[in-house]
Amino acid sequence: MRIALAALPALLTVMVGLHGGEVHAGPHGQYAGVSARSELHARDTVSLPSSSDIILNGLQGQAPQTRNYDFVVSEMTGAPDGFSKSMLVVNGQFPGPTIEANQGDRLVIKVTNQLTTNRTTIHWHGLYQNGTVWYDGTASVTECGIPPGESLTYDFEPGSFSGTTWWHSHYDTQYTDGVTGALIIHPSADPPADFPTYDEDFVVQLTDIYHTLSPAIVQNYLSGTGPTAPIILETPDSGSINGVGQYGGEGDYFNFTLEANKTYRLRLIHTGSAAQIRFSVDYHALTVIEADGTLVEPYSVTGVNLNVAQRYSVLLTTNQTEGNGTYWMRAGLTSVVAVEGTTSDIRGVIRYGTNDTSLPTADTDPGVPDSGLADMDVSLLTPAIVDTPPDRSRFYQVGFNISTTSTGGTIAYVNGTSWAPLVGTNSLLQINQNSSYAGEGESVDSGDQFIITEDTIETVDILLINQGAGDHPFHLHGHSPWILGFDSTTYQGQTPNPTNPLRRDTFVVPSGGWLMLRYISDNPGPWTMHCHIAWHMAAGLLMQVNSLPSVVAGWTIPQDVVDQCSA
Ligand code: C2O
Repeated sequence: MRIALAALPALLTVMVGLHGGEVHAGPHGQYAGVSARSELHARDTVSLPSSSDIILNGLQGQAPQTRNYDFVVSEMTGAPDGFSKSMLVVNGQFPGPTIEANQGDRLVIKVTNQLTTNRTTIHWHGLYQNGTVWYDGTASVTECGIPPGESLTYDFEPGSFSGTTWWHSHYDTQYTDGVTGALIIHPSADPPADFPTYDEDFVVQLTDIYHTLSPAIVQNYLSGTGPTAPIILETPDSGSINGVGQYGGEGDYFNFTLEANKTYRLRLIHTGSAAQIRFSVDYHALTVIEADGTLVEPYSVTGVNLNVAQRYSVLLTTNQTEGNGTYWMRAGLTSVVAVEGTTSDIRGVIRYGTNDTSLPTADTDPGVPDSGLADMDVSLLTPAIVDTPPDRSRFYQVGFNISTTSTGGTIAYVNGTSWAPLVGTNSLLQINQNSSYAGEGESVDSGDQFIITEDTIETVDILLINQGAGDHPFHLHGHSPWILGFDSTTYQGQTPNPTNPLRRDTFVVPSGGWLMLRYISDNPGPWTMHCHIAWHMAAGLLMQVNSLPSVVAGWTIPQDVVDQCSA
């Protein structure tokens, strides 16, 4: 059940399809022939998110409570970019329902799998699941997946996590096909005294879009053969903003109608699978205040580059006079190779102080004239609340690479092991039931599970070495590690920065370079660490960090989670 929101804030409306029934000629021809949303609706079965999925009403001040949701995963036809395709969605909408809660609440989410042949899971990206590792929702690691026709109720608390994140299927590459949504946890603690405030708060989900269902793409990618091979996997067909995008002159624009002279918090969430996405709003500076749940010192920029699964909150003030009150939001897929027939210039519209409903006129990005600002440099993000990690007590170096198979397919290795999902069991079950599984230190279990295990509470540094070309956005489940350092050149013993480093759960290991992270092994269970590019994870770019197995061995895993392994 959706949490009912009170009346919509008066300050804004969220609209798509302003141009119902008309065909608009773009100012420079580029957007000529954009089709009307009403026409799309005729062939859509997937619906758009509702206002309450986009506009956060701020639950601050509400008593701690249990928030119940019902998620039904099914296959439907949808056309987020105007191109009709098969999608896997939650509750018939894309993006799926937004979960909004306070720290201190409990979330109870019943997930029913209505797919005909595939299992599913939902992972709550960035949440710590301390004491509830079986609800991390990671197929092969913490559960076996919900079989078709069955349900699983995830039941957990946000614990010490707060901020902007998302949920998604963690069964193979299923999330690429549409099983994603926003997850917002409002903190109990007040922000620092001089931290900027804002008038309204909303969700901006940015994604790349593929017109082919992901299992077919994966099969061709891994084998090097098939109807879509050879394929350049980092080249999606298009993208969308809150489920509305453009492809080949079709599609529509997601539209925010705001009030002038207000400050809005935009929670940017990259829910996509491969491309980097650069977000900007014509003529407007953006002030970054949050990265993956960590409040950062306000940092004004012209644009923000998001990697897969990363989040940033930015403040936008509606005080510009250029552009007749209508401005493009741009969500450019910046890392994609220019391939004919794909659309990488994805846009939406922000308007205020005008009744003009025409599209913005700036075709090329005007930037933020005369501001002296630049795009966000991730190395300049500084936590707003000083948080210095304890000293290291363990150290591991882990190299990874991606190589081409003899048939032109792709395989990835972490420390020499190419991960493949366990079937009929999972790491958690093994650790719970078999004391010789995943011994302390580094191990390779069941042939293809590379695991780093600590059975005492340690401060662990992992140096990730990217042995190939291409940036890889890695995600560590169950933690928000300190990012001690990274660089795009060979690691040469650089001393990591222990002074107020950024904590975040999704971080880029640069092409040919390295990244060092630090975490404390105080959260019992096996935690996945993987490249969040869906195709790279499918090729084996995944390892696990296993903490306190002796504690896990004494736990009773909920029987319904266990039973789904033999179903
Ligand atoms: Cu966003 Cu392993 O997950």
